[in-house]
Amino acid sequence: MVTLRINGDEMSLDDVDPTTPLLWVLRDHLGLTGTKFGCGMGQCGSCTIHLDGRATRCCVLPIRDIDGMSVTTIEGLSEDDDHPLQEAWVEAGVPQCGYCQVGQLMSAAALLADNDEPSDDDIDRAMSGNLCRCGTYTRIRSAIHAAARAMR
Ligand code: FES
Ligand code: FES
Repeated sequence: MVTLRINGDEMSLDDVDPTTPLLWVLRDHLGLTGTKFGCGMGQCGSCTIHLDGRATRCCVLPIRDIDGMSVTTIEGLSEDDDHPLQEAWVEAGVPQCGYCQVGQLMSAAALLADNDEPSDDDIDRAMSGNLCRCGTYTRIRSAIHAAARAMR
């Protein structure tokens, strides 16, 4: 049996096949559908969550490999969608179709937790695993700078 702490709550996943990727446990077993399925091959970043605070793609991550670890999803990022990044995203009108944006936010949040004054290069490096077919990269970078300013 696998036990995870998900958005602060300890959960025993005794009715779930331990080879199931975390993405499907979140979406299908727990109803946390904010985390998105994109490529399913660990290459697009749309399924990014935090695993013990680190930005991690969860579409190819069997839960048996992360027993006892802490998971944060977009639903647990803030109380009222008011993380400085979420506010900066709205202010800058970042999303276009929106599909990649949860993954983008989770990668950005992990970056700012470690570095409250990231350079453009820091941002580009941290966000390089998150693809956006709509090309919102410039607005993402501006919003990360704005959120970083708000958090300092
Ligand atoms: S859906 Fe996980 S990286 Fe693309
Ligand atoms: S906003 Fe459409 S894929 Fe990023």
